[in-house]
Amino acid sequence: MFKLFETLDRKAFTKATIALLLTILLVFIGSRNLQNFDAALIAYLVGTLFAVFGITYRYSVWLQRPPTKMYWRRSWQFLFSRNFIPYIGRSLNLFVRNILFQRFIYPRGRSRWIGHFLLATGCMIAFLVTIPLTLGWIHFTFEPGSTVTYEAHAFGYSVAKFQLNSFLAFNIFHVLPWCSVLVVIGAVMMMRRRLTNGGLIATQSFEGDWLPLVLLIAISVTGLGITYDYTFLEGKTNQFMSVTHAITVILFLVWIPFGKFFHIFQRPAQLGANIYRTEGKKRGMAVCPHTKKEYASKMHVNDLKTITEDLGFDFNLEDGRNHLDFSPEGKRSVLAKAHYKARKESGKFFG
Ligand code: HEM
Repeated sequence: MFKLFETLDRKAFTKATIALLLTILLVFIGSRNLQNFDAALIAYLVGTLFAVFGITYRYSVWLQRPPTKMYWRRSWQFLFSRNFIPYIGRSLNLFVRNILFQRFIYPRGRSRWIGHFLLATGCMIAFLVTIPLTLGWIHFTFEPGSTVTYEAHAFGYSVAKFQLNSFLAFNIFHVLPWCSVLVVIGAVMMMRRRLTNGGLIATQSFEGDWLPLVLLIAISVTGLGITYDYTFLEGKTNQFMSVTHAITVILFLVWIPFGKFFHIFQRPAQLGANIYRTEGKKRGMAVCPHTKKEYASKMHVNDLKTITEDLGFDFNLEDGRNHLDFSPEGKRSVLAKAHYKARKESGKFFG
């Protein structure tokens, strides 16, 4: 117990507590003082609040790592520079390509991309619907005086109206079953890959690679159970279906900060790394003194020197240069040559 307090990151704890309190405040504001909050969803709310706290805590600890901190600081500095328009345009473009469509997976395999895309799209849409519902930010009522027109409210304001029994209403009420179908197909495709790819079979772990897929399938299948129940069973098994869905969703929410799903929140930071690379190229590339080839931006090399120095590493050479001025290829070559010279001088090449 005391060990926990010793290792507690106070900065991250403070930020996570602020995020938690802000979310609770937004529940009150968004649901108009709990008027539109569905009390049946309290367990989901507790799971969501735990996830908010845990994700903020871990993100904050991650941002404190010197390289991440440098990338983070520089990304915002370049974004809000005089190049704001091109950088925001580029970031939006990459957001659509690499976050919404995850195109960076495509070169690794077409079916791998299709599987991930279906799974990610299903999850993203499901979160966009269920999290605001759970927090009481959106709810549905009949239009006053009507029994055929439904009204959607966000933060207590009417935002859309639609006719019951219309095609639109059917899809609005069935958006989660559609998401479940996408998630199940995507997860099964990913599982198939994990069962047939020799490299994966050798390296995968249950907790890191199978559990996330099993959990997503469990959430989707139990969710579909709710739909099946009210569509075909007249709600006779509602309690069982609702409880099993709640259990799987809450397990998922509580696990987000600790497991593989945390990458959903880390990935978007990659947009900053792209701005960093672009800006670095503009400012000039570093040339390796050994290979005479460009290998990274001068800014990247200088930032690396700052970070390694902060971490207590001294890479300065006696002749005033620095190990980090050499490209990885150059470093290997210099090292091999030094070994060769030492062997030659000792008169023995083997043993
Ligand atoms: C992969 C993500 C998810 C999928 C595919 C999914 C799927 C489903 C489905 C198909 C339903 C039944 C909808 C209906 O026909 O009315 C449902 C219900 C529900 N889901 Fe999920 N869900 C997901 C994640 C979540 C999350 C993250 C939350 C909460 C934070 C959540 C909360 C709920 C709630 C409150 C209900 C209604 C439960 C009830 O009527 O007892 N779901 N979900």
